Amino acid sequence: MSEKNDPSTSKKTPKGLKSLKGLNLQPTPPPKPRFELTRTCKITKNENGETKEYTICFDELEKGDFLGRGQFGTVKKMFHQPTNLTFAVKMVNDTLMESNDSRNSEIMDLAAPLKIGDGCPSLIKFYGAMHAESYIWILTEVMDTSLDRFYAKVFAMGIEMPELFVSKVAYAVTYALDFMRKAKMMHRDIKPSNILLNYTGEIKVCDFGISGFTTNSVCTTFKGCQRYMPPEKIDPYLSGNGYTIRADIWSLGISLIEISTGEHPFKDSNGVLGLIKSIVQNDPPKLDQSKFSPELCDFTDKCLVKIPDNRASCSDLLDHEFIKKYMETPNDLEYIKKVMDEVKKDIVEA
Ligand SMILES: Nc1ncnc2c1ncn2[C@@H]1O[C@H](COP(=O)(O)OP(=O)(O)OP(=O)(O)O)[C@@H](O)[C@H]1O
Ligand SMILES: [Mg+2]
Repeated sequence: MSEKNDPSTSKKTPKGLKSLKGLNLQPTPPPKPRFELTRTCKITKNENGETKEYTICFDELEKGDFLGRGQFGTVKKMFHQPTNLTFAVKMVNDTLMESNDSRNSEIMDLAAPLKIGDGCPSLIKFYGAMHAESYIWILTEVMDTSLDRFYAKVFAMGIEMPELFVSKVAYAVTYALDFMRKAKMMHRDIKPSNILLNYTGEIKVCDFGISGFTTNSVCTTFKGCQRYMPPEKIDPYLSGNGYTIRADIWSLGISLIEISTGEHPFKDSNGVLGLIKSIVQNDPPKLDQSKFSPELCDFTDKCLVKIPDNRASCSDLLDHEFIKKYMETPNDLEYIKKVMDEVKKDIVEA
């Protein structure tokens, strides 16, 4: 079609519209499909190999145990009798969204990215989200605890963090990141509190999809997730190919050092400026080679390369000796139970 006959370039007023001087007669674009949040949501449940759809009403949810609290609200266990399902429900105050239009659309678009968890065993299953009583209620699968609590308990009990366990964490998170990369997503908030585990030894990443809105939120403090941010987020000269999934790999490296040593590698940084200096100007953190295996030291070294293009990719890491070494060895469930039982004793609503 020549440009002259192409309707998209034609200056003629479309048929049926009057040409009135001073009036913008451009047809308004159709509204963007939005994920409308209401007091109910539809969920799918697998029953004997068949996928069934159910509607969950907010009023049917029975509030249960407190699971934890983050910067944006509380996470509680909730039981839904009609489906016999128990959810972990994250409550986020909706005023976080009302003040900012762009953030509002981000939360409305949240369903699509969250749904990708369904196809990956290392991502938490997202069921749906509702809007009721001034909160957004995000329904996900329940796990037993998060890695921040688990590793803190290991060191409080004066026992070792086995490299077998660290390798399983490294594998689960890298697998999840690789899955997200293939779906053209990144996580943006990898840290021990967003890595969950249960008594059966499953390790799953949570808070993907919503991390875009939470990490950019005015509520985010430098005390929180910023300690896991990669140098390219601070120094634009480093982000040659943009801010990519390799940023999540840096955060994984920091998290693995933290769970292996029991301390965040930037714990001694002095305030926000000190933290920025540690991330951008200092050499990347390293594990002590006299205390950890060469495979684990090399794995974290490859995650913590300052120039993102030189940092390991997900496939490099999935093929790394530290993963392969333990691939055929199952996680030590007795060890996990011993620590988890102690973690469970601490969880009371503050
Ligand atoms: N699906 C879940 N199953 C079991 N516990 C969970 C689940 N999701 C979250 N938790 C617990 O609730 C806590 C609070 O989670 P939340 O995501 O609100 O904050 P956070 O990740 O700890 O910190 P931040 O708000 O800084 O991101 C987590 O640390 C975890 O222990
Ligand atoms: Mg979280």
